[in-house]
Amino acid sequence: MKQFNNLIILAIETSCDDTCVSIVKVKELKAKVKSFEVLSNVVSSQVKLHEKYGGVYPFLAKREHQKNLPVVYKKALRQAQSKQKFKKPDLVAVTVGPGLEPCLWTGVNFAIKLSKNLNAPIVPVNHVEAHLLVNFLNPGHRIRNTKYLFPAVCLVVSGGHTQLILMERIGKYKAIGQTRDDAAGECFDKTARILGLGYPGGPVIAAEAAKHDMQNTKYNIQLPRPMIYQKNYDFSFSGLKTAVLYDFKKRIPETKKSKSYMRQMCSEIQQAAIDVLIHKTLKAARNFKAKTIILGGGVAANEELREQLRRRIEKEMPSFVYHVPDQKHCTDNALMTAVTAYYRRKEKTKNWKKIKANANLRIDQKYGRETC
Ligand code: KG4
Ligand code: ZN
Repeated sequence: MKQFNNLIILAIETSCDDTCVSIVKVKELKAKVKSFEVLSNVVSSQVKLHEKYGGVYPFLAKREHQKNLPVVYKKALRQAQSKQKFKKPDLVAVTVGPGLEPCLWTGVNFAIKLSKNLNAPIVPVNHVEAHLLVNFLNPGHRIRNTKYLFPAVCLVVSGGHTQLILMERIGKYKAIGQTRDDAAGECFDKTARILGLGYPGGPVIAAEAAKHDMQNTKYNIQLPRPMIYQKNYDFSFSGLKTAVLYDFKKRIPETKKSKSYMRQMCSEIQQAAIDVLIHKTLKAARNFKAKTIILGGGVAANEELREQLRRRIEKEMPSFVYHVPDQKHCTDNALMTAVTAYYRRKEKTKNWKKIKANANLRIDQKYGRETC
């Protein structure tokens, strides 16, 4: 008779402008994950609050987190208990970085209090790692067959990060490239603001781009593909933003009224970013002799990026494994924090003094240490 062990993980994520709590049941067999059951995954978005500024204001976001966290926590607990009765979680997990420092601290302080009250150890989680490990929510994803999975080249693209990471195994990472200025999501957010399309920019740019008729090239917009042919794995998106601003201003007042300009411009912004992201990811995968390509982060929700990358891999590297999270798990959530805490459960501690927020936490940096 197989002996399963059930582990309940309660996770908190407040690194940016989403207040998130998730409760997950992990079914283990001989310390190996058999399944993750999502008992709750509550996300309270602050989009409405930040919309008018076109970006996130850390201290405003912190205040919202402080207000929302107890409410989101209670909701997540209620939902989870209705599916599975449990006395207390076995582990509390919390994002400690990278992210906006005041926001991170709100989650960290809440989690420490909870961990003390419940006498459950706490696991510090790296937000970028969480964007990647949510890909292993379904352990059927050949996770145990690491021979076929690693090394993996991972692209994390979000509002705060654009990074290429070499994953030798879960827990062993090397950052091989990153943006030198704006992140890809930040570029979408800023260009959408220039075009007067609202916040967050990624989804609106994608929606406008989808309406663009490819045959209609009336405006002949050609944006740069920054750093695409440079030998490194770094990115730069601020030049793209400047090019959009320049083109938009040059054509005023016509551009302000023209739907077809807006659609063509959005399609070109999206494609310029995708071209660079895919080119560098495939180059890294080839050069590092990877077996797998992993995508993660809010921008990974972008339909065109997901599909164009899939098609290129199928065509050019058919032996590669390609992982991309469900769209609903790409943008910030605490489910990814819970999944990561499971894979990083050896980091659990009741030495609460060690748990500190670190806005600049790197993927290759050990967290949960005072030096963080
Ligand atoms: O991971 P995330 O929720 O927060 C950070 O860790 O930064 O990512 C948010 C970013 C925003 O910049 C947003 O514009 C972008 O992800 N985003 C998208 C899409 N959905 C969200 N970008 C492109 N296409 C989308 N469908
Ligand atoms: Zn994120």
